Amino acid sequence: MRIDILTIFPGMFEGPFNHSIIKRAVEKGHAEIVIHNIRDYSTNKHRNVDDYVYGGSAGMVMMIQPIADCIDKLMAERVYNEIIFLTPDGQLLDQGLSNQLSLNENIIMLCGHYKGIDERIREHYITRELSIGDYVLSGGELAAAVLTDSILRLIPGVLSDETSALSDSFQDGLLSPPVYTRPSDYQGWKVPDVLLSGNEKEIKAWNYNKALERTRVRRPGMLGDNKQTDSQEL
Ligand code: ADE
Repeated sequence: MRIDILTIFPGMFEGPFNHSIIKRAVEKGHAEIVIHNIRDYSTNKHRNVDDYVYGGSAGMVMMIQPIADCIDKLMAERVYNEIIFLTPDGQLLDQGLSNQLSLNENIIMLCGHYKGIDERIREHYITRELSIGDYVLSGGELAAAVLTDSILRLIPGVLSDETSALSDSFQDGLLSPPVYTRPSDYQGWKVPDVLLSGNEKEIKAWNYNKALERTRVRRPGMLGDNKQTDSQEL
């Protein structure tokens, strides 16, 4: 998968993209991430990327020209499945959408700033508007980094043990059960006996029931009426 990110703060991606899963996805050849500085596309002699809002309200708006030129150049080079604008008024990102997006070949992510971007970019280029949560960030960069991480870890081969993405919270409609590692007794705080029993069937049922209980308590809205949510018998 190729992801092109359009931003006025390219440096914001250096940290998140140079570690852990995203770094590994790129190194293993599963993903190519190209960061474009929108300012490089400005034809303005001061390299401006924003201008005053028509109609007189306060704040600045990102101009069409540098963004349009950058997207046009990319679209002339390859076909894009999605051109995504990260914005707090977009569709809320969830695991199902990340799964769907992970099947794409080429994606553009556009990060907004200031008061927003000229509406005509949204009307004529953007195929999807996404929010990572009901709060306002200073720009779309952190949201684009979150979206990139959530997509890339789902590409087969990116995680060393593929099943670990499958057992993520949300992936099967449930939150993850609690997990433990050695020692089995830390100053009297004990790991549940069943997990040390070696009985695979009992361990599976315990994990399922704990996942169900955690989902019921923390995110009851995830348990729809038609979902199989009965406790597993041992
Ligand atoms: N830009 C600013 N806030 C955002 C959010 N919550 N999600 C996506 N993009 C944003």
